[in-house]
Amino acid sequence: MSTDATAAPSPSAEAVVAALDLPTKVRLLSGRGFWALEPVPAGPGGSGGIDGIVVADGPHGLRCQVTAADHLGLAPAQPATCFPTAAALGSTWDVELLEEVGAAIGDEARALGVSVVLGPGLNLKRHPAGGRSFEYLSEDPLLGGRLAAAMVRGIQARGVGASVKHYAVNNQESHRLVVDAVVDERTLRELYLRGFEIVVTESDPWTVMCSYNRVNGTYASDHTELLTTILRDEWGFGGLVMSDWGATNDRVAGVRAGLDLEMPGSEGAFDGEVLAAVADGSLLEADVDRCATRVVELLQRGRLDGARPDPQHEQHHALARRAAAEGSVLLVNDGVLPLAAEGTIAVIGGFATHPRHQGAGSSQVNPTRLDRALDTIRERVGGAGTVTFAEGYDARTGRSTPRQFAEALATARAADVAVVFAGLPAAWESEGFDRTTLDLPDDHVRLIEALAATSTPVVVVLSNGGVVHLPWAERVEAVLECWLGGQAGAGGATDVLFGDAEPGGRLAESIPVHVAQLPADRNFPGQPRQVEYREGPHVGYRFHDTAGVPARFAFGAGLSYTTFEWTDVEVTGDGTDRTARVTVTNTGDRAGSDVVQVYVRDPESAVHRPHQELQGFAKVHLGPGERATVEVPLDRRSFAVWDVAAHDWLVEAGRFEVVVARSSVDPVQVVPIEVASDDVVTPVPAPVDLVATDEEFAALLGRPVPTPKAVRPFDRNSTLEDLESTVVGRLLSSVVVREGAKRAAQEFPDPDDATIEMVRSSLKEGPVRMLVLMGGGILDFAQADVLLKALDGRWTSAARSVLAGLAARLRRP
Ligand code: BGC
Repeated sequence: MSTDATAAPSPSAEAVVAALDLPTKVRLLSGRGFWALEPVPAGPGGSGGIDGIVVADGPHGLRCQVTAADHLGLAPAQPATCFPTAAALGSTWDVELLEEVGAAIGDEARALGVSVVLGPGLNLKRHPAGGRSFEYLSEDPLLGGRLAAAMVRGIQARGVGASVKHYAVNNQESHRLVVDAVVDERTLRELYLRGFEIVVTESDPWTVMCSYNRVNGTYASDHTELLTTILRDEWGFGGLVMSDWGATNDRVAGVRAGLDLEMPGSEGAFDGEVLAAVADGSLLEADVDRCATRVVELLQRGRLDGARPDPQHEQHHALARRAAAEGSVLLVNDGVLPLAAEGTIAVIGGFATHPRHQGAGSSQVNPTRLDRALDTIRERVGGAGTVTFAEGYDARTGRSTPRQFAEALATARAADVAVVFAGLPAAWESEGFDRTTLDLPDDHVRLIEALAATSTPVVVVLSNGGVVHLPWAERVEAVLECWLGGQAGAGGATDVLFGDAEPGGRLAESIPVHVAQLPADRNFPGQPRQVEYREGPHVGYRFHDTAGVPARFAFGAGLSYTTFEWTDVEVTGDGTDRTARVTVTNTGDRAGSDVVQVYVRDPESAVHRPHQELQGFAKVHLGPGERATVEVPLDRRSFAVWDVAAHDWLVEAGRFEVVVARSSVDPVQVVPIEVASDDVVTPVPAPVDLVATDEEFAALLGRPVPTPKAVRPFDRNSTLEDLESTVVGRLLSSVVVREGAKRAAQEFPDPDDATIEMVRSSLKEGPVRMLVLMGGGILDFAQADVLLKALDGRWTSAARSVLAGLAARLRRP
């Protein structure tokens, strides 16, 4: 007989917590080391203990460090499949595929003994220069939300949890650890929270990770409205909220607000404050219990029973290759693609042998293998043709020597076609800092332009995590945007180049003609302590379409190798309960995929709204001659606006237009419908300009535009950069940066330039509190407070704090 049948049911999390004393409960609210949760200790007689569990990054593969017990997280990661980054996955518009990728990541997590995957990431791409663009899915919350929900479903179907991150309004890297994102309520709801809302309501993630930054003045980690009122009370989230690594600002406020778990463990740094707050009545023990219960629930849920499955690396490599092809967007093609495997094919560019396949930072996977385009192309062509190669530029720096340049030109001239690999060198984009330009390296552009001037047809294959300026795009024969395509990205690109796979991608973000077009550019990345979202909803295509300023390549755009005919467009249903329907026929002679996009417009609104917004989509794969009727459901939310006065979603009665489209600028049919509604919406006038003036912004915020927080007096949220205004602060900063870099070198053994810059900026822009939380015990809060007062010249206060500390120590038994 199986023991399970007779085993006593495990006690509920509430019952477990009820049996613990306060210090034990408080200990559960912070992790153990970098990647683990504290176990529940066994009760008297050894019964009732629950093992700790392990979490690991995310989001496009596992970054699971070899020694989970290492409290600093300084160890190389175990090999895992590096799937295409979110920039590429977002471009697939393929819900099923993302579920499949999620499931594969879930399987690998189980294989590595990981119970929670830290991903997907779904912050909105407010500005294309955001350093972490490659980790996020889209500029549109519906597309990002639906795809992230699919990934969560996939991961969690394998019995491990996902952690949806970074909640919320973490749309830049510059000063992400302390910056205050000032955003009006309607924009917050319609853009920056909507994706999270979709994921929470559609996929029930086990956990959500709060972001580092402040949102309208309050750190996300202390934000009751975000963490409890909206997330739990409105959206019905039933899981656990953990902090981003080192994001906990004030643990007592966090417990009150609904931040269940502090990560990583800070070796009890906050425990004293939490215990004291319960003792003096400023924090209810019931709040501690609630957080502890959620931690215990996660421990129970995350227990990995049974043997570890095989990680199936070979199958996952093949899936990664398919996903890379599905996410590659064909932007230009005069017919040169797909290539025939014959004649002389010149492969040009350092990225053909040193692929850019993922971005630097916490998402950096140690891939199980890595495709190189020169190899995959040679393999594909075999003996049928000749593949020549010229480096053209240095993959690391992006710079060409005159010799490399001349060789590339000569190689291209002697070939029937030149395939040029270009994009952003690793050092140009990373977690931890934003880009300062959307330009490609000068020498990449020079090379592309010189090649375009030869008589050889030129195909440009791009590898970049965030969008780049493409002023030369119409001067070459083809442009294939492959993003950072993961370990099989080169194979996926090869499949597309030779027509073995369809370029399945459509842009999940607009490619502007120039970054200066964008209203968000005027307040990006803002000031070190404050970034103002004065463009409101005018982000990406919402801006381009509303302002009538075309992007170079529009949201939703992407070419195919086959042709599709769309017929029988109709919108059925009543009120806001509608279905858009279209029959798609593959009229070409090869298999392919198309994406039906449904936008909704409110042409006669009392509320200023973007010209149109994506409210549904579906991807369809069809063989030659095949047809399918695609249905895209719409509901109340597809028509609603967030009404600030009513603090609710309202639908204005009247005429709407349902736009069934191939991209945001390519409507196939506009179907007018009437919607009846009793809602009384509060009128919102159009702004004079798409960037709000002080007065307009204050009106949108419902309060004066805040003044950025002053640098002095110093406090726990002062950054090393702030402290550098003093002589001792400069000394401290240089020591911390030097030592921090040494430690990071162990985590990223062969750091590239981006990693070095990420570490430097994270340290310099990090608040002093993080030195306490993540410094491995080098400093405690009492010492940090004294130090800050002393640096500020508040000597008497500093001396008083030292004496108080001494007295407390002497009083201890
Ligand atoms: C990142 C998170 C990541 C965590 C753990 C943080 O710096 O922002 O996305 O999950 O580190 O590596």
